[in-house]
Amino acid sequence: MALENKLGLTSSADLAREEERISKKKAAELFGDGVLDKLEPGKFSSLQAIHKYLFEEIYDFAGKIRTVNLAKGNFRFAPLMYLETALGNIDKMPQSTFDEIVEKYVEMNIAHPFREGNGRSMRIWLDLMFKAELYKVVDWSKVDKEDYLLAMERSPIKDIEIKYLLKNALTDDINSREVYMKGIDHSYYYEGYTTFKTEELL
Ligand SMILES: Nc1ncnc2c1ncn2[C@@H]1O[C@H](COP(=O)(O)OP(=O)(O)O)[C@@H](O)[C@H]1O
Ligand SMILES: [Mg+2]
Repeated sequence: MALENKLGLTSSADLAREEERISKKKAAELFGDGVLDKLEPGKFSSLQAIHKYLFEEIYDFAGKIRTVNLAKGNFRFAPLMYLETALGNIDKMPQSTFDEIVEKYVEMNIAHPFREGNGRSMRIWLDLMFKAELYKVVDWSKVDKEDYLLAMERSPIKDIEIKYLLKNALTDDINSREVYMKGIDHSYYYEGYTTFKTEELL
């Protein structure tokens, strides 16, 4: 069964295809229209605006904090009970060095504020911080998908692997739409990778 959606699609294959088409189109528009430049790097409200922009044609929950507990693989993301507190704390985390920015990204991933689409919106959010503070962005085509997922799985315990992967993928090419879109593409390699299927716990 597909996640409930505004498109009225009930097959998960149909939804996957339409979600990919629409969110990629929206991501490309978001890059062009100047909205990103107005967002404050590192704030949850900015991530919310990005998520809403990408997914509002598809899901009612676009830009809204999830109302279910979520897990992927063996990892349970922040329990609902602590989610808003966690987001408030993440807003206050520093973001002036490479390490601080990745640590913030790792914490936001643990929070996993949305029902779906955290990866795609968070990678745009991450680039906003890198751009503002280091004049760099991540070239996600340089980040191996399996290495990335293993590093993210490991990141709540040790963030050295994700730091290593991202450090080696930084580029000065901060205004390239092609580079930016690689961060969106990155999510689509996991489709059908059963280990990472979202499981609703409650
Ligand atoms: N086992 C795991 N432990 C921690 N984080 C994970 C795990 N599996 C996936 N992730 C993170 O979740 C993200 C995917 O979240 P999701 O909400 O499905 O976003 P999207 O659909 O945009 O890829 C991945 O990019 C990764 O950062
Ligand atoms: Mg997903």
